[in-house]
Amino acid sequence: MEKLQLTLAIIKPHAVKNPVAVSYIRNVIKNRFVVVRTRRVILDANEAGDFYQEHEGKFFFNRLVTFMASGCIDLHVIAHKNAIDLWRRMLGPTKVYKAQFQEPYSLRGMFGISDTRNVAHGSDSTVSAEREIKFFFPDFSFYEWHNNDELRYR
Ligand code: TYD
Ligand code: MG
Repeated sequence: MEKLQLTLAIIKPHAVKNPVAVSYIRNVIKNRFVVVRTRRVILDANEAGDFYQEHEGKFFFNRLVTFMASGCIDLHVIAHKNAIDLWRRMLGPTKVYKAQFQEPYSLRGMFGISDTRNVAHGSDSTVSAEREIKFFFPDFSFYEWHNNDELRYR
């Protein structure tokens, strides 16, 4: 049996504040993935900077951090046999012009406002998924998930 892969989906502040976007995105998540954990948080700028540390020094870093600390974000640890790629494909391209013109029915195509306010985050590899899930859910045990919990969701 193929293992379920985990990824972290984060609904960004402008989407959390948009009832149409947030209810649409929640439905998509519920229908396509197993929802393992959810949590709503507000980050301060330091925490947002830590989360996005790989982008420190880039031209958009300050804007990104300020935005991510500007309101509630909804965290979802979700599972699927191909969770990382599937969620990123559902998101569509990072850049809003690409999303709107090339993937108009992706989540970013439909609800994206700018390159920074691009609706949601998705982990880009198994290594980052593990880091990001631990960042927000420090008690989450990957060992237990793969040895007990995962089986209950099959
Ligand atoms: P990145 O990891 O490249 O994109 P993705 O979210 O698709 O993995 O960038 C992280 C976030 O940084 C991105 O979701 C929004 C922000 N960002 C900008 O604001 N401007 C940009 O030009 C890029 C590339 C990213
Ligand atoms: Mg990324």
